[in-house]
Amino acid sequence: MDNKRRIKIIGTGFYVPDQILTNADLERIVDTTDEWIVSRSGIRERHIAAADQATSDLCVEAGRRALKNAHLEVKDIDLILVANNTPDTVFPATACWVQAKLEAGTVPALDLIAGCTGFLYGLIVAEGLILSGAARRILLIGGDALSKVTNWKDRGTCVLLGDGAGAVVLEESKDDAGILSSYWKADGTLAELLFIPAGGSRRPASLQTVAEDGHYMYMKGNEVYKHAVKRMSEAVEEALKKAGLKKDDIDVFLPHQANLRIIEAVGERLKIPGEKVYVNIERYGNMSVACIPVAIHELRQHKRLKPGTVTVLAAFGAGFTWASIVYRW
Ligand code: UT7
Repeated sequence: MDNKRRIKIIGTGFYVPDQILTNADLERIVDTTDEWIVSRSGIRERHIAAADQATSDLCVEAGRRALKNAHLEVKDIDLILVANNTPDTVFPATACWVQAKLEAGTVPALDLIAGCTGFLYGLIVAEGLILSGAARRILLIGGDALSKVTNWKDRGTCVLLGDGAGAVVLEESKDDAGILSSYWKADGTLAELLFIPAGGSRRPASLQTVAEDGHYMYMKGNEVYKHAVKRMSEAVEEALKKAGLKKDDIDVFLPHQANLRIIEAVGERLKIPGEKVYVNIERYGNMSVACIPVAIHELRQHKRLKPGTVTVLAAFGAGFTWASIVYRW
């Protein structure tokens, strides 16, 4: 065991809404085909939140499950950190709605908005807070209800997205397991390639913004695609370098699930064998910040994360933001 202080995951859980939207369902909503969606994105179905389910509702369920998995109660947590892009309300933070529903007393609650990279940004922020002594145990939740900001007339985006939430409980590691290294970056000059144009202080809600579909997610798909492949590959290389590891040391590569073609392109660029790359996009679509924590829980369920397994997480998203984390189980 080395002397480096690090944090580790001691519990995981996730929640996806019951309602499933298949590609066949989408064929009835927009001018698309199952063949196009599968060949261009790898997605077959996604879960969609009910009309009365907000992002916080998905997060609360995921958070409860992660606490149960860690054999802890909410009183054992001293910060609730919620990464999301679809807040319940502009303010207060979604984390506060979550905190109330978890009956967490007066535990501090904080949102983090960093596009689809939010969960990895959250892990890096949590690492800093735990190692500085500001918090001992953190419940980090990544949840989004993208369906609530989806333009169901825009076939270029609506076929790609799904709703869900995943959560982890974090504390300082007492053994060799935990975050070995991280790398995070942002480039705000590219913000308008993937954003919600109206509803904030830049363009407050008005009849005009509603008429212009300004409250929906807007994306320049192929621009995002190119940057995603380049930046996620860069992030993995840099994070590995910081950990003093090589690509061959990777046991499991877990990239953000935005598009199967992006995942495959990053894998090929980094020369990571396909069997080491975890993919579940066919069942969930792009759930934004929820993709990685949901996949972590599934990997644990499938017993693919044994003591010593080296996992590399990588994500890319609105902002633009991108990051990678090397994690040893
Ligand atoms: O989490 C991070 C955020 N998002 C992403 O990472 C997504 C990044 N981008 C992508 O995944 C891909 O760019 C898309 C899946 C969005 C699009 O794939 P593409 O291969 O880049 O297609 P394209 O945008 O170049 O469009 C090709 C054609 C167009 O028709 P024309 O102009 O060639 O006649 C589109 O109108 O495909 C058409 N098209 C569709 N056709 C059937 C676009 N969406 C659809 C659709 N069904 N759903």
